Amino acid sequence: MRQSDRNAIAVTVGLNAPIEEEELAIYRGQIVLLPPTPASIELCAHARTMVEEAFHPYDPRTAQHVLDIDDFVARAANVKPRFIHDPQTRILQKAYLAELGFDPWRTYLDVPRMRVVSSDGYLVSGVGHKQPPHRDTWWSAPMQQIQFWLPIFPMTRECSMEFYPHYVESAVANSSNDFNIYNWNATGRKNAAQHRMGEDNRGIPQPNAALEHPGAVQMVLPVGGAVIFSANQLHATSDNVSGMTRFSIDFRIVDIEHVRHGIGARNVDNASTGTALRDFRRISDEQEIAPDIVSRYDEGEKPQGGVLRFAPDEVVKV
Ligand SMILES: [Fe+2]
Repeated sequence: MRQSDRNAIAVTVGLNAPIEEEELAIYRGQIVLLPPTPASIELCAHARTMVEEAFHPYDPRTAQHVLDIDDFVARAANVKPRFIHDPQTRILQKAYLAELGFDPWRTYLDVPRMRVVSSDGYLVSGVGHKQPPHRDTWWSAPMQQIQFWLPIFPMTRECSMEFYPHYVESAVANSSNDFNIYNWNATGRKNAAQHRMGEDNRGIPQPNAALEHPGAVQMVLPVGGAVIFSANQLHATSDNVSGMTRFSIDFRIVDIEHVRHGIGARNVDNASTGTALRDFRRISDEQEIAPDIVSRYDEGEKPQGGVLRFAPDEVVKV
């Protein structure tokens, strides 16, 4: 690597090298744009159908202009977990990863998320939270984590997400030392729907000050298109000024061989504790990551009352 590559993002279209090599490049700051595939189009259509049902009879993208905030929040808070835990969602995720060539025996998959980002500050916290610049590693994600982001509806740069090339492998002062995923599982996630207006104060990790180098790259993708990137990549929700609510989905994978051998992105500024590795299950047979491997990544003390893995129907306490 050149020194300058620590402040640069390589952008590629499609997965051209063997997956394991692409993953190594992604750890070092490469982002990969993926054109729509049959399975990704089906996954997005599945999400779109659920969103449209939740906001019926309104167009989900413009419902924010006619619904009062409580109604909007209730509908968004309802559809997000329904999508996340719908069995068909997981089937489609797996079909998509198979199409892309990920090995089902070495790739472990988390449940997806659905993001709802309203336009012009209608809803700025809780279920509609706009992510400030962050690395997902600040949220206790492993350094091997690779993330997929896909819009559900046609989009523009006015309602996008963005990356910060300067910080690919350069530190930014941040509050991740206050973040422990087991605490977050116990309190932060559950309370999302209760936060509607004003600052989101659920203790999310973020930069201590405005970025010194805020130059950004904004993603614009067709429906079914995806951007994939390292959890160590600094990124944010772009301010949505499109006049319409943005709906997107994202999900995460890890390569168990890289986890096993400690191969991953370079930690330049993360001090979060705990690990999200328990959230992943093997694509082939839903097996969890072995406890002896997880424990190697389990930084810090486990807080009393913490929850090791968040799931609405199952609580695994510390
Ligand atoms: Fe993120």
